[in-house]
Formats: sequence, structure tokens, C-alpha cells
Amino acid sequence: MKAIVLHAAGEPDTLRLEEVPDPVPSAGQVVVRLHAAALNHRDLFICRGQYAGLRFPVVLGSDGAGEVAAVGPGVAGVRRGDAVVINPSLDWGDDPRTEGSGFRILGLPDNGTFAEMVAVPAANVAPCPSGLSADEAAALPLAGMTAYRAVVTRGGVRPGETVLVTGIGGGVATFALLIARQAGARVLVTSGSDAKLERARTLGADQGFNYRTQDWVKAVKAATGGAGADLVIDGTGGKPFDQTLDAVRPAGRVVTYGATLGPAPELAVRRVFWKQLDVLGTKMGSPDDFRNMLALFGPGCLRPVIDQTFPLAEAGRALLHMAGAAQFGKITLRVA
Ligand SMILES: NC(=O)c1ccc[n+]([C@@H]2O[C@H](COP(=O)([O-])OP(=O)(O)OC[C@H]3O[C@@H](n4cnc5c(N)ncnc54)[C@H](OP(=O)(O)O)[C@@H]3O)[C@@H](O)[C@H]2O)c1
Repeated sequence: MKAIVLHAAGEPDTLRLEEVPDPVPSAGQVVVRLHAAALNHRDLFICRGQYAGLRFPVVLGSDGAGEVAAVGPGVAGVRRGDAVVINPSLDWGDDPRTEGSGFRILGLPDNGTFAEMVAVPAANVAPCPSGLSADEAAALPLAGMTAYRAVVTRGGVRPGETVLVTGIGGGVATFALLIARQAGARVLVTSGSDAKLERARTLGADQGFNYRTQDWVKAVKAATGGAGADLVIDGTGGKPFDQTLDAVRPAGRVVTYGATLGPAPELAVRRVFWKQLDVLGTKMGSPDDFRNMLALFGPGCLRPVIDQTFPLAEAGRALLHMAGAAQFGKITLRVA
């Protein structure tokens, strides 16, 4: 089969499609013939050597959708030809609150989805939500599940609350907007692009603020009668994470799922205790998070936001598009 194989850390434009052996399903596994895959910021971090536990060579990619091509020994309930979407949380374990010691994310260390085929545990495939294209289905798993856990499981969003989502152009962020709206929340967003703020409004964001040209903390306060948001969903890290502690109301919740900009330089502990904040970390998702997220998507329900689709062979160009924060929503790869 053909796959995008990372042999050493470097810039994405060095990535090429190459011939590798077809995966063979071990006991309990299935092989999925991929129709589409999707990018996550993790793939960019791995490509550039900025991720823990690197190993080479590795096939990149956590997200994919396609059909079951082969079934390993001992697999029940999944058949050749089934249309499936892959849950990239491998071996989460039994505790819905946190992952077990065997937990891995598909696409490092296990070979991932930027390929014509991938082997995954049979427990990690689910029927594709009907009515979605292969690209839409492939866009769902990692970012949709992360957003679901951030907004619902960890964030505990309630109808009528005001939720602030930072960096709305991001893959996880667009899902957080959709899921918070679906839960009956009012959603405020930030972005470095006015065009992305406009797109977010068409998806139901109530107001948006440009972090390059506006004092967005002041704007969030003004939009909430001086109080601040009830719940903040942040994957930016860096200074914007510090600022979320000002943008949230007293006794509010801040959920952090990422640090695209690196560590928060002056995490103000005083604001956490003085405002009696709940600061909540979240990672990927449990099997329940995945199932509950999938149930929100399909005909008459939510649809993921696709920014652009590239051919599999152009995965490097797709990653550079992400590196420039040019996207609004998910970037997908057409495999077949
Ligand atoms: N905890 C987990 O399990 C988990 C799961 C998924 C992702 N993550 C992490 O979450 C982060 C986002 O992942 P992703 O795949 O959604 O990435 P992505 O699609 O590349 O989105 C990144 C977004 O960050 C925003 N951004 C950049 N500079 C910013 C700033 N100064 N202030 C506010 N926003 C800024 C941009 O939004 P605008 O263009 O709108 O400005 C950009 O689109 C990554 O760090 C990733 O590793 C963690």
C-alpha cells in the first residue's frame, strides 16, 4: 500500500507518499481501507519533532474513515465491507475519568491513517454516521471527541450559559462551537482573522473578537455585563490562557485542551483562588465520549466544518496550510 511515512523530524514539505507493506490484522484487530483521513495539530508537532515519544519510521495520522478490508482472529460484530469511522483513543481503559497505562493515540507510536490502510483494534471502529461524506466522517474523531469531552464531560455546559471558545479557526475549536450551541449555550469566540469571526457567526457564534486588533478580554466582559464567560474552552495555551482567567466570571470554569503557543508565561495562581475558578484539563476521550460525540452528527444533526481537502500525496502541503493557521475547521486528505 501507499502511505505518508515520517523517517525523521523535519518540515512537512519533505513528506512523500511511499510504498510500504500492507498491514495485517492481529488478534482482535481489523484493517480499514481508508477513504479519507484528517489532520490534527498533533501531526504537525510530530512531524517537526515537537512531540513526546517520537519513533521512526511512523505513518502519521489519527483520523480516518473507510471500510473494513480484513478482520483478525477473535473479532466479533465487525464484518468486511462495514463502513466505519476510527476512534483514535487506543486502549483508553475502564475509567471514564482518565486513561489507563496502555493508552496511545493512533498515529504515534502505532502507524496511523495517512495511508491506504490501517490496522486498529476492532473496538476502535464504529459505524459511520449516515449522511456524512467520507471527508466529513474522517473529520470527526479526534477533534470532535476532544471538543465533546471539553465542553460537555469536563466543562459541564448548561443551557443559557455563555461559553467562550478561543482561536475559533482551529479544528477542535469549531467542534466546540457547534457542540456548545447544540447544548443551548450562547457562544463567544476569538480569532486572529475577521473572516474567521464572520464564518463563526454563520455557525451560530453570538459575538467574535479579533485577538490581534482588539482587547478581547475587555470585549468579553462587555458582552457579559461585566461578569465574564461562565465557561472558557482554550487550546491555545501561552499568554491567551493567562488571559482566560480574566475573561471568565468568578466561580466559572476554564477547560484547557492544548497549548499551541506553548506554556502560559505567568499562570496567575492568585486569580484562580481569589475568583474561585475551576481550571480543568482534558485529553482526547473515553469510549463513551466518542459514542456520545458521534450521536450528535448526521442527517438533521450537526455537520463538521471542513476547511479544505487535499489528496493524500499532498499531506505535506496540507500540514503547511495548518502551520500557517490558514484553516477554518478541519483539513482532510482524500485517500480513495
Ligand atoms: N488534549 C487533547 O487531547 C488534545 C486534542 C486535540 C488537540 N489538542 C491540542 O489543541 C491544540 C489545537 O489543536 P487543533 O488540532 O484544533 O489545531 P489547529 O486546527 O491547528 O488550530 C490551532 C488554532 O490556534 C489558534 N491560535 C493561534 N494563535 C492564537 C492566539 N494567539 N490566540 C488564540 N488562538 C490562536 C488559531 O485560531 P485562529 O486562526 O482562529 O486565530 C488556529 O487556527 C493543539 O495544541 C493540539 O495539540 C489537544
